[in-house]
Amino acid sequence: MDTFNTLRNIIQSRRSTKPALMNGKKIAASQIHQLLELADWAPTHGLTEPWRFIVYENTAIQKFCFDHAELYKANTVPDKFTMAKYEKLVQQGNTLSHIVLVYMKRSAGNSIPAAEEFAAVAAAIQNILLGAAALDIAVLWSTGGMTHHPAMKNHIGLAADDNILGLLYMGYTDEPLTEGKRNIPLADKIVWRS
Ligand SMILES: Cc1cc2nc3c(=O)[nH]c(=O)nc-3n(C[C@H](O)[C@H](O)[C@H](O)COP(=O)(O)O)c2cc1C
Repeated sequence: MDTFNTLRNIIQSRRSTKPALMNGKKIAASQIHQLLELADWAPTHGLTEPWRFIVYENTAIQKFCFDHAELYKANTVPDKFTMAKYEKLVQQGNTLSHIVLVYMKRSAGNSIPAAEEFAAVAAAIQNILLGAAALDIAVLWSTGGMTHHPAMKNHIGLAADDNILGLLYMGYTDEPLTEGKRNIPLADKIVWRS
């Protein structure tokens, strides 16, 4: 029961933290590696293990954020483009320790439905988020900016069938954890049949 309570506390207290609330303190690369080891134990239909990670650290973070902003500029029609969003994308790295780009590598032969490989990668991400919560590491799973745009896929050299599931903005925060909020009562999400 103690193990269950520990796990429940981590799951329920895990919160998303915006990069703007992070303090610039660095996470040890060994801890990032430990989190990726947790990701590697996600369930995977047919053992295709479709999760892949690109870890940005040090000056690669600023470069990624600048490139992200440039992709936004190059792929946004002028009347939709805002300098504020461009600047936000450029500055986003300033408070971070690492960015982990997570993508789904579509398995050869397509024997497993793509939706199941997406699901496996999402489970891998949740493992990272929970491990991070246990280590007091702040994370935002973000799909903002150009994350889902084909230009981003192209920029990092993914194959047509591969897909980015998100950018994990990681660091530390001095802010207290916000209160968790769920709008739909759990009872409304469950049907018991007996
Ligand atoms: C697939 C996915 C994409 C998300 N993308 C964003 C995002 O682009 N920006 C953001 O602020 N939060 C993003 N989030 C985080 C959610 O906003 C957050 O999980 C939700 O508000 C619930 O808060 P909690 O994680 O603290 O429980 C995303 C979450 C998921 C699962």
